Amino acid sequence: MKFFIDTADRAEIADLVATGLVDGVTTNPSLVAKSGRNFLETVKEICALVAGPVSAEVTATDAPTMLEEGRRLAAIASNVAVKVPLTPDGLKVCRTLADEGTMVNVTLCFSAAQALLAAKAGARFVSPFVGRLDDVGATGMELIREIVAIYRNYPALKTEVLVASVRNPLHVVEAAKLGADVATLPPAVLRQMFAHPLTDKGLAAFLADWAKTGQSILGPGGAVRAAAE
Ligand code: G3P
Repeated sequence: MKFFIDTADRAEIADLVATGLVDGVTTNPSLVAKSGRNFLETVKEICALVAGPVSAEVTATDAPTMLEEGRRLAAIASNVAVKVPLTPDGLKVCRTLADEGTMVNVTLCFSAAQALLAAKAGARFVSPFVGRLDDVGATGMELIREIVAIYRNYPALKTEVLVASVRNPLHVVEAAKLGADVATLPPAVLRQMFAHPLTDKGLAAFLADWAKTGQSILGPGGAVRAAAE
């Protein structure tokens, strides 16, 4: 499963890219507004921070303007994935951009029918929003199960299921069990995935017992020497 980071915060992205676990980034107009920075400059900077796809969303709703915006975003860097909403105009633009060789991430997907349309329109990614479905009492992960099952019937479809609106590590695990291709995680969720109290407890016990041996793997002053290097 690929992990994308769902944020426009460059510091967060740089910090998490350093873990070696990040395969891409997704942004949306709300995340860009939250960053308080210039959108086009931020996209360019993020594209330099991560080699994988960086989703940047159009903000028009009519096909001609969406297409012009999408081409402008795609020109920023080769790893830009243009995000379009799952609307008739959005899918028209998806088809045109995909035919031009541009990665397209079709976002705001809430049904299997919509996901089927996104795949037919040539989307590189479709983004079903699991958290927002859960928020209204539906079962977001059921949508992931449906989409993965449908896409598996048609090997010629190249659209990847990019699980979005992730709220917690359980969403990531359940999506992985279902075989989703990508999960885009808020930074906090990725950090939560590391954490388990038994890991902390076990490490503390190992280090306490090791300290009693009086030994050092790197030899006298080794740790200081390694840190200085
Ligand atoms: O970026 C798309 C999606 O991940 C948004 O999530 O938390 O606003 O529902 P959220």
